[in-house]
Amino acid sequence: MKTTLPMSYSKSIQTRLVLPPDTNHHQSIFGGKVLAYIDEIAAIAAMKHSQGEVVTASFDSVDFVSPAYAGDMIELEAVVSGTGRTSMEVYVRVVSRNVKTGAKKLTTESFVTMVAIDENGNPKEVPGVEPETDFERHLFETGPIRQEHRKQKRVLSKNRRA
Ligand SMILES: CC(C)(COP(=O)(O)OP(=O)(O)OC[C@H]1O[C@@H](n2cnc3c(N)ncnc32)[C@H](O)[C@@H]1OP(=O)(O)O)[C@@H](O)C(=O)NCCC(=O)NCCS
Repeated sequence: MKTTLPMSYSKSIQTRLVLPPDTNHHQSIFGGKVLAYIDEIAAIAAMKHSQGEVVTASFDSVDFVSPAYAGDMIELEAVVSGTGRTSMEVYVRVVSRNVKTGAKKLTTESFVTMVAIDENGNPKEVPGVEPETDFERHLFETGPIRQEHRKQKRVLSKNRRA
């Protein structure tokens, strides 16, 4: 029987400081820098869940809701919110914090699909995931709709390949 792990098992948290080299001429952080942070924490959560190596298969579209500035802190939280046979959907929430005022703003929320791989780089089966809190249940129950969108997107992009 397929094993199942609680969603909290993969929960991962990171805090980063926004430094001047990470920012543009408005002193706000580059979107690509935030994407790199999201990719890293999503991989960490997926590695915890699958207890092995993973690769990034896809990012759902990412909307940047508010800027983070040099000197702000960026807080990232990730959890495996759903699983397929070898793939894991990872929910990542990014919040910026003004160090002086303590004010927090949502930077973005994102869903990343990670695939577990074996020593030969082939996809390998992952445990299922069990939501525990109301918010985790919400993520879990809405997963199949997002999964269906990804499938449709993959069909379209396959048709576009040379
Ligand atoms: C992701 C990858 C391992 C999938 O390999 P594949 O031969 O297509 O394997 P499959 O078709 O069996 O797919 C494996 C799983 O990945 C999922 N998947 C593959 N491509 C996906 C995509 N673009 N979006 C979401 N899920 C995807 C499949 O749905 C499947 O999930 P399931 O087992 O839970 O049903 C392969 O495409 C790869 O190595 N890509 C490059 C990854 C990489 O280098 N990432 C770093 C950034 S470049």
